[in-house]
Amino acid sequence: MKKLSAAVNALDKRSHINREIYGHFSEHLGRCIYNGIYVGEDSPIHNTDGIRNDIIEAFKEIRLPVLRWPGGCFADEYHWRDGIGEKSSRKKMVNTHWGGVTEDNSFGTNEFFNLCEKIGCEPYLAGNVGSGTVEELADWIEYITFDGVSPMADLRRKNGREKPWKLKYLGIGNENWGCGGNMRPEYYADLYRRFQTYCRNFSGNELFKVAGGPNVDDYNWTDKIMGIIGDAHAKAISLHYYTIPSGDFSSKGSATKFTDEEYYRTIKHAQYMDRLIDKHSAIMKKYSDNMKLAVDEWGCWYDVEEGTNPGFLYQQNTMRDAIVAAVTLNIFNSRSDIVCMANLAQVVNVLQAIILTDGEKLLKTPTYHVFDMFKTHQDSELLYSFTENAETNGIPAVSQSVSLNKDGSMTMTFANASLDEDFEIDCAITAFSASKVSARILSGDVRLFNDFECPEKIKPAEHTAELTEKGVKFTLPKCSVACIILS
Ligand code: AHR
Repeated sequence: MKKLSAAVNALDKRSHINREIYGHFSEHLGRCIYNGIYVGEDSPIHNTDGIRNDIIEAFKEIRLPVLRWPGGCFADEYHWRDGIGEKSSRKKMVNTHWGGVTEDNSFGTNEFFNLCEKIGCEPYLAGNVGSGTVEELADWIEYITFDGVSPMADLRRKNGREKPWKLKYLGIGNENWGCGGNMRPEYYADLYRRFQTYCRNFSGNELFKVAGGPNVDDYNWTDKIMGIIGDAHAKAISLHYYTIPSGDFSSKGSATKFTDEEYYRTIKHAQYMDRLIDKHSAIMKKYSDNMKLAVDEWGCWYDVEEGTNPGFLYQQNTMRDAIVAAVTLNIFNSRSDIVCMANLAQVVNVLQAIILTDGEKLLKTPTYHVFDMFKTHQDSELLYSFTENAETNGIPAVSQSVSLNKDGSMTMTFANASLDEDFEIDCAITAFSASKVSARILSGDVRLFNDFECPEKIKPAEHTAELTEKGVKFTLPKCSVACIILS
């Protein structure tokens, strides 16, 4: 087995890892909300106020820190007033982006904020700029956050919620260069300035405003909006980047049937996130030292599963997705100086979901387990770390990140993308003495996935790691993700 040396320096703290980097995204798309998170109060599936209890538990288990809603493309067609009040009289609409299905608005503002309270996570709203008005968005913020007497706060009270909710994260539109209005950056940037002006900080609530950033490598978009918006009116800009095996939206490739060559190409595309962050942040730095990046849509996007609605974006999730998730989260940790938040697309039954459901059945995907194994990075301090390079099929095989937790323990996460080589990692650690080590591993054939007949084919197992004089030693099997905790 090939030996690789690694190093960590506990004195070299690099940046704070915001827990929001471990965020998720829930859109009114396919079975993410309806028949996913939300089954309605009358469902035979155990629920609280219509939200599946098993989903609430699963979200809490990984400490899901922030949830983005209601879209996506859906956000720029969503009119929040249609989703409040008596359910039977809520207005219906066509979900034109996603399958042309009827949206009955039974899951709306009150349901979303109550869901976030149940999970204990921050809500992240995507406001409607594409087809909405400044007044409509301003009223939404007042409805949610104003404590005094006002038309919107009174409306909230009439709908059964006395106290305002807290709202920190607010996105002003979504993909404004595409489904969110097909705008030019100059036009959007001016609109952004106007819309955000009327989104007020009510009753001690403080908004963290996110401007609609670039698609993938549209550096011109970043340059233009940074020039016009600057950091006076926004705290972050978004970035959207999906990992597509073929690199081509028209024929993306199957989630479960792929060649080794396609697999390595997928990992290479996932690793590209690092370069995107580098280049966009270099442009952002020309204008501001404070502006952050919210990668509020990322993940693998494949062809839909056979026999499912093409507009529902339902796909399976294999060990390949686990490697992509681990590689990407290691990148986000390593770039936590600039990445303040990230939201995997999407949380249930859509794209690289962490949970799949079928009626009352529920399974946790390999990607879910990666979020579980990485959760102690949340709100920790990134440390300098390094692993000797091992190439596999033209890409670096091993990725890692290491952080120091508030409780004094150290979390190390590793991914081995190689399909045929195990490695022995010998890690030297400076300025940290551990007396205890525990390790977990997620590994298996790259095409393995959990299904409803066998929902636990892939789940983390205990792993062996040995404390050494210099630090810690363990094996990293081919196609695996490992988490080592030292205390
Ligand atoms: O996540 C699916 C879609 O991808 C979102 O609605 C949109 O923002 C992006 O193009």
